[in-house]
Amino acid sequence: DLTASYVGAAVPAEYQNWFSNGILSRPDLQNVVIQHFDQITAENIMKSSYLQPTQGNFSFEDADNLVNWALDNGVTVHAHALVWHSQMPDWMINFSGNWEDMMEAHITTVAQHYAGKVVSWDVVNEAFNDNNDNGYASYRDTDANSGGHGSPWYRNLGKDFIPKAFTMARAADASAELYYNDYNIEDDGAKLNSVLRLADELLADDVPINGIGFQMHVNYDWPSAEAIGTSFAKVAAKGLKVKITELDIKMNPNGDRDNFTAAMAQQQKERYQEIVAAYFANVPANQRGGISVWGVSDADSWIPNFTGHNDWPLLFDEQLQQKPAIEGFANAL
Ligand code: XIL
Repeated sequence: DLTASYVGAAVPAEYQNWFSNGILSRPDLQNVVIQHFDQITAENIMKSSYLQPTQGNFSFEDADNLVNWALDNGVTVHAHALVWHSQMPDWMINFSGNWEDMMEAHITTVAQHYAGKVVSWDVVNEAFNDNNDNGYASYRDTDANSGGHGSPWYRNLGKDFIPKAFTMARAADASAELYYNDYNIEDDGAKLNSVLRLADELLADDVPINGIGFQMHVNYDWPSAEAIGTSFAKVAAKGLKVKITELDIKMNPNGDRDNFTAAMAQQQKERYQEIVAAYFANVPANQRGGISVWGVSDADSWIPNFTGHNDWPLLFDEQLQQKPAIEGFANAL
């Protein structure tokens, strides 16, 4: 039972009848979430392509069903994500009008709709490249500069899209905690430096940001627990909250492991434990935004699709049985 400590999980959700294997049709998954977690994140359906599939037509029904299920079951919702270059609808990517107005319409409509129902938002997701540039990562701009994953937000609005997005989100929801969220920032490297510089700029300008989300799609052996702890401490030193938003631990990042062995289960248990311990050791209690894993069962994890390898990154196995990993996690709470 992890529920005393603000622990969350991403869950799949039904979407307009074509994705019908979500949590609302799976009582077994519902039971595990209610028993072991006290927060959910929608793995996909609160992204812009789902909520505003065509311009001005918001489709809230499926996300509402998920949010209402959570609230009916005493589970809070961390909402993900308002402004992201990925999983945007085509009309938005190709938009030729006023981008600031378009961004404001999306943020305002969505954040107002969920105000009072969600406890926090990932306002901006993944604005930086991994590329090292004098100790800082570059902003995502064109696909060519960003590994095929450039950001139309940056291209159209420049880096001010970030403070603008936070200001719009706060105007639409007076109380949700507002996060900047990114991956590969837990290795205390160039990309973390960019996030720290962004934090300095936003705080100096009184932009309403509450914290930094560390996605933490990590490997069993990367980054070191020491680098992870240092990364948390550097953000905490800014006075911001630290939230682990999408934790999973790849056990087969190189594709050379065919089976999940007992030794790997033990390795993963220790790895979950050291990461959660690093969080508690480096983030003061009043700056802890909580820890969420990116999925419940290994059967649903996005990782095999992403890496192209078998993997077993989560706390529950394909049959929704607890793995040793959950003990490691709980040991550190
Ligand atoms: C992933 C989902 O898990 C997949 O189902 C989907 O196909 C792609 O997106 N960083 C994020 C998440 O912020 O939104 C991503 O979720 C994983 C990486």
